[in-house]
Amino acid sequence: MFETLSKAPGDKILALMGEYAADPRPTKIDLGVGVYKDEQGVTPIMSSVKKAEQKILAQGKTKTYLGIAGNKGYGAAVLDLALADSIDRSRVRIAQAPGGTGSLWVLMQLVNRAKPGATVWVSDPTWPNHNPIAENSGLVVKTYPYFDTATRGVKFDQMLAALDTMGPGDVVLLHGCCHNPTGANLTNAQWDQVAASLARTGALPFIDLAYLGFGDGLLEDAYGTRKVLSVVPEALIAFSGSKNFGLYRERVGAAIIVARDAAQADVAQSQLLNIIRGAYSQPPDHGAEIIRTILEDAELRAEWEAELNMMRARMIRLREKLSAAIRTKSNSADFDFIADHRGMFSLLGLPNSVVEHLKATNGVYMIGDSRINVAGIPEDRVDDLADAFLSAMK
Ligand code: LMR
Repeated sequence: MFETLSKAPGDKILALMGEYAADPRPTKIDLGVGVYKDEQGVTPIMSSVKKAEQKILAQGKTKTYLGIAGNKGYGAAVLDLALADSIDRSRVRIAQAPGGTGSLWVLMQLVNRAKPGATVWVSDPTWPNHNPIAENSGLVVKTYPYFDTATRGVKFDQMLAALDTMGPGDVVLLHGCCHNPTGANLTNAQWDQVAASLARTGALPFIDLAYLGFGDGLLEDAYGTRKVLSVVPEALIAFSGSKNFGLYRERVGAAIIVARDAAQADVAQSQLLNIIRGAYSQPPDHGAEIIRTILEDAELRAEWEAELNMMRARMIRLREKLSAAIRTKSNSADFDFIADHRGMFSLLGLPNSVVEHLKATNGVYMIGDSRINVAGIPEDRVDDLADAFLSAMK
């Protein structure tokens, strides 16, 4: 049977994790995969998560099946966190899913059931895993203009002009905050215009909300999603708890459906649950129960928010330090955009030859398109990193 297969290409982001691990140089720096790291270079288990786990361990009574939609308390807590009162909940349905990726997968399958072969418009560029998830679901992927390689900001006029040409039946994939891979994000005023365009054209917004709280704050980062939901009849949201709760390997996410009315929401949800049952039957509980426990307990929630604030502040500080170091050393403002970007990533706009040179010569690892994970910058080595960037670009 397997002789009919040829080798599939490896995943560029995950392959880099292996390459980095195999590099014996003690001075190596990992700016690759998008995981948060602390000053020690460790991806820590948050203290609120540890406490929630202890509570779960002490109080847990059963490991029986959860049901296809997953942990109900978790679902309600995620809706409160992400959407608050931006929309009438009678039109909203949620199903827990394995990570942001699992959520994207089941929602793309749902889109293909509703409109087989529909076009999903993704930003240019986007997280590379968006394309296979959509294509493997039977959908067609096209891009809309997004990143301006000259300014390292958003080409907003071109983006909006492209959105304005879309119509009902088109799906527009938007990054709710902390754009991956670029780090360039829409302002609130730009979100207002995107929302108005979607309301005008009838295209379906599909929001990937993987980094809530990693940009400017929990409330600030939810602005775009809530704004869009307040003006459109239908939407899809893939939520991830990987980054903001540091639960990467627990695979905890949620697929959210917003429909025109409660009756259509029920129908769409029944299809979603049917997709899940036919794929992995039902989700695992541990990560979802951790998030539920934290969000329902005032003390744990406050502790979690403080930890999240600290992580976000560290990323912003590292951005400011790196861009200031490059500015001082090069006497140029060319890399000031690093301080303006938000979230874990910045797309530096370096040619692949420079990326490879940095890896080979300095042991600095970043994704081939020159995306860096700012959380991977060791704070005491910002100067070394700035020197390495400047010398590689000469
Ligand atoms: C990333 O973009 O590095 C993360 O979202 C991890 C992944 O699965 O690619």
